[in-house]
Amino acid sequence: MSANLGGIPAYWDKGLQMKASDWERVWEERKAVFEMPKVHRLADKGHDVVGVEYAKLPCREFFEEQRLESDTTPMEDVSGGFLHKSSDGKIKIFQCDFFKFKKSHAGNFDVIWDRASLVALNKSDRKK
Ligand SMILES: C[S@@+](CC[C@H](N)C(=O)[O-])C[C@H]1O[C@@H](n2cnc3c(N)ncnc32)[C@H](O)[C@@H]1O
Repeated sequence: MSANLGGIPAYWDKGLQMKASDWERVWEERKAVFEMPKVHRLADKGHDVVGVEYAKLPCREFFEEQRLESDTTPMEDVSGGFLHKSSDGKIKIFQCDFFKFKKSHAGNFDVIWDRASLVALNKSDRKK
């Protein structure tokens, strides 16, 4: 994947496929930015917040930027997956492939907030 984030729709239009692991490079090359401070605001309002993100860098940087103490532990049933949890337990970010994320990992949700996840998926994966 050599396109920058703004070029990803054009990438799909060419019928090319992108692997979730390609996103690690997008983050390392600083071609993506996160809207993660909003997540922190939800937690400040008393909500329990759960996120799912494949790439390691934004998961780690979120807690650093928000100056939140956190623990990172491997996910037991997802190889290569990690759970990053704030020390008060209000914010959990699962670092794993969204398609491997299960109800058993985080229970039921009252609200799902999505921003720019579908655009990150190959067109052929969007109906899954
Ligand atoms: C366009 S960015 C949006 C990021 C964030 N939702 C925001 O609003 O700032 C898409 C994100 O999806 C992540 N991603 C892509 N494929 C994924 C997958 N299969 N499972 C989990 N995350 C994935 C990428 O690493 C990237 O951070």
